[in-house]
Amino acid sequence: MYAITIPEPGGPEALVWDEVPDPVVGEGEVLVDVVATAVNRADILQRQGFYDPPPGTSPYPGLECSGRVAQVGPGVSGWAVGDEVCALLSGGGYAEKVAVPAGQLLPVPEGVSVERAAALPEVVCTVWSNVFMIAHLRPGETFLVHGGSSGIGTMAIQLAKAVGAKVAVTAGTKEKLERCAELGADILINYREQDFVAELREATDGKGADVILDNMGAKYLNRNVQALAVNGRLVIIGMQGGVKGELNIGALLAKRGAITATTLRARPVEEKAAIVAAVREHVWPLVSAGHVRPVIDREIPMPDAAEAHRIVEDSSHIGKVLLVTPR
Ligand SMILES: NC(=O)c1ccc[n+]([C@@H]2O[C@H](COP(=O)([O-])OP(=O)(O)OC[C@H]3O[C@@H](n4cnc5c(N)ncnc54)[C@H](OP(=O)(O)O)[C@@H]3O)[C@@H](O)[C@H]2O)c1
Repeated sequence: MYAITIPEPGGPEALVWDEVPDPVVGEGEVLVDVVATAVNRADILQRQGFYDPPPGTSPYPGLECSGRVAQVGPGVSGWAVGDEVCALLSGGGYAEKVAVPAGQLLPVPEGVSVERAAALPEVVCTVWSNVFMIAHLRPGETFLVHGGSSGIGTMAIQLAKAVGAKVAVTAGTKEKLERCAELGADILINYREQDFVAELREATDGKGADVILDNMGAKYLNRNVQALAVNGRLVIIGMQGGVKGELNIGALLAKRGAITATTLRARPVEEKAAIVAAVREHVWPLVSAGHVRPVIDREIPMPDAAEAHRIVEDSSHIGKVLLVTPR
């Protein structure tokens, strides 16, 4: 098969479409003929040499894919050759074929094409596991997501609205904020021009956010605590603003607040399967009913992955950038 390889870490040009051995399907796994994958920020870190794949997983980038089942490994039930699926991966989505633990497969939801389904698994599993399974966002609560027009943000807005939360977003341009509003966001904050703590306070009668989904890490740590409501939950999933911050514990105590940080890729197969099962139960009906949809900026042929990485690094996209396997 062909896959995007990274012979040497570096810029986008480090991504090379090359012939590689086919994956071997192990016990409990399914082989998927990949139709499409989608770019995640983690792929850029992997390309740069800062985020190695977990031991025993595919060396190629790609944390999600869609496609058709090509082979069912020993010990797998419930899936058959030809099924249209999408999958949460630990890597290997930028390839014509990938072997996936069966617990990480999802059917392509009704009303979504097999190609576009590639934009769903990573963002849906990340948002559902953090905002709902960990932070327990409830109807009527206020939810703040930073980077509202990102892949993660566009999904977080839709899911939070679907459960009846009030949604605040930060983004860097007026156009991006407008797209967030179209997806349902109620409170729009331009992080380049406005102070999100003050804006949120004003929009919530001084109360703040019950749950914050944060991509910035160190840079926003103390301001996120300031923006929390009493009993608020801050969930950190990204480090775009650095890894080391100083926390004002007094401010957190006063809020009776909680801070959690997680990464999905490193979680054991059983935990990923539990998240995927929860997504199938709670989110897939919302997608099939049209309440939640993948937001796709554009589709690019997989061999041109370098172009897709440039777009995501420039942050000129809204939602997800798809990479489609050549036929
Ligand atoms: N821990 C996990 O398991 C996990 C899983 C998936 C993703 N993530 C993380 O989630 C984040 C989003 O991922 P993605 O793939 O959806 O990324 P993406 O589409 O590339 O989006 C990155 C976002 O960061 C925003 N941003 C940059 N500077 C900002 C600032 N100062 N304040 C607020 N927002 C700012 C950008 O907003 P503008 O374009 O408006 O500037 C953009 O929306 C990344 O940090 C990624 O690493 C974590």
